[in-house]
Amino acid sequence: MNTEKSEENYSKKKSGESATPWRAETKALHSGWHAEKAGDPVTAPWQPSTVYRHGEAGLSKDTWSYTRLDNPNRAQLEQTLTSIEGGLSAVTFASGMAAVQAVFQCLSPGDHVLLPDDLYHGVRNLALHQFERWGLSFDFVDMTSLKEVESASKENTRMLWIETPSNPMLRISDMAALSALAKKRGWLTVADNTWATPVMQRPLDFDIGMVLYSSTKYLGGHSDILGGAVVVGAEAQAFEKPLRTLQIQGGAVPSAFDCWMMMRSLKTLYARVRLQAENAAILAERLEKHPAVKKVYYPGLKSHDGSELSARQAIFPGAMISFEVLGGKKEALAVVNASRLIQPATSLGGVESLWEHRKTSEYPESPTPDNLIRLSVGIEHHEDLWSDIENALKYAGI
Ligand SMILES: Cc1ncc(COP(=O)(O)O)c(C=O)c1O
Repeated sequence: MNTEKSEENYSKKKSGESATPWRAETKALHSGWHAEKAGDPVTAPWQPSTVYRHGEAGLSKDTWSYTRLDNPNRAQLEQTLTSIEGGLSAVTFASGMAAVQAVFQCLSPGDHVLLPDDLYHGVRNLALHQFERWGLSFDFVDMTSLKEVESASKENTRMLWIETPSNPMLRISDMAALSALAKKRGWLTVADNTWATPVMQRPLDFDIGMVLYSSTKYLGGHSDILGGAVVVGAEAQAFEKPLRTLQIQGGAVPSAFDCWMMMRSLKTLYARVRLQAENAAILAERLEKHPAVKKVYYPGLKSHDGSELSARQAIFPGAMISFEVLGGKKEALAVVNASRLIQPATSLGGVESLWEHRKTSEYPESPTPDNLIRLSVGIEHHEDLWSDIENALKYAGI
């Protein structure tokens, strides 16, 4: 069994360096753990021990010692993520927000950050309510406009935050153009790829510096694990060590069990997300034709501003849909509460479909339209999902 840290290279030997490198779908199953010797388990063992016995010379970096510093399950998960993203290394956290926090902590007081004006509201809150007090400053810009990004930048700008598709309006930003601009200016680029997943797009292929995940969503995929991850690419090599130090010293690490669960989830990531996206494409087209629906935001629709860009930089448009119903908050809430199959709940990326009246999950001044419903499409049969949506729209009386 591969329990010794000195054996952690086994996976590197087996995946990236083989004569025919495995494709990401295969790496998702085999690069963090693969039975090698007779008697090895085919699935990685969960190792809950928080402490490990020292050698005769005391603590050594060559063996496991204490679970916050490193442990076999975390190393296997980080190896898998590094491998499927094509990065230098992955650093995992106890939640997506702990990962965001660690990335902001890589900056120094006085640094300026450009964030998208449509992004996960938790990142906005963390920036404004926590990090401004610690000397970072932020501007929120339309990341789909290179001109706006350039004109909002300052001498002390250090980081550009990208969310494409954005949450909840599914705006598409040009990763290649933004990373080229950032490289010219010496800014770190971070892509929160939670909505897209590596199945849909790999930001490091566009020279983005770091890819961030709330692995609570699609990577976990079953609405039962909280987690976060940052995969560092070549453009952000200088941040690899500080991020690892923040993980270990800050201690917001995922438990060995959560890492084990996440490894299990990653095995089906590609199969799940492709089916979710297939379902979403069908539902988005039908929603657009429904008389009770005012507007649909889905990058796979020709009517979407970012559809051409999305087709260029992503393999498919994803499994998230936002749509506006006729009326306002009352009507949108009536719709989400009238479904029988799709459960009204926040969060996304699980195999079961969820939807919510988005604005009530955000902050009161949020620009999200009052009549907007955010739908995370699961792997149920698409006809069952469509009947549920049609019925909900009918029973809501709009
Ligand atoms: C795009 C995005 N980034 C980050 C997060 C934060 O992740 P977590 O809830 O795992 O802390 C979320 C959560 O909804 C999200 O949607």
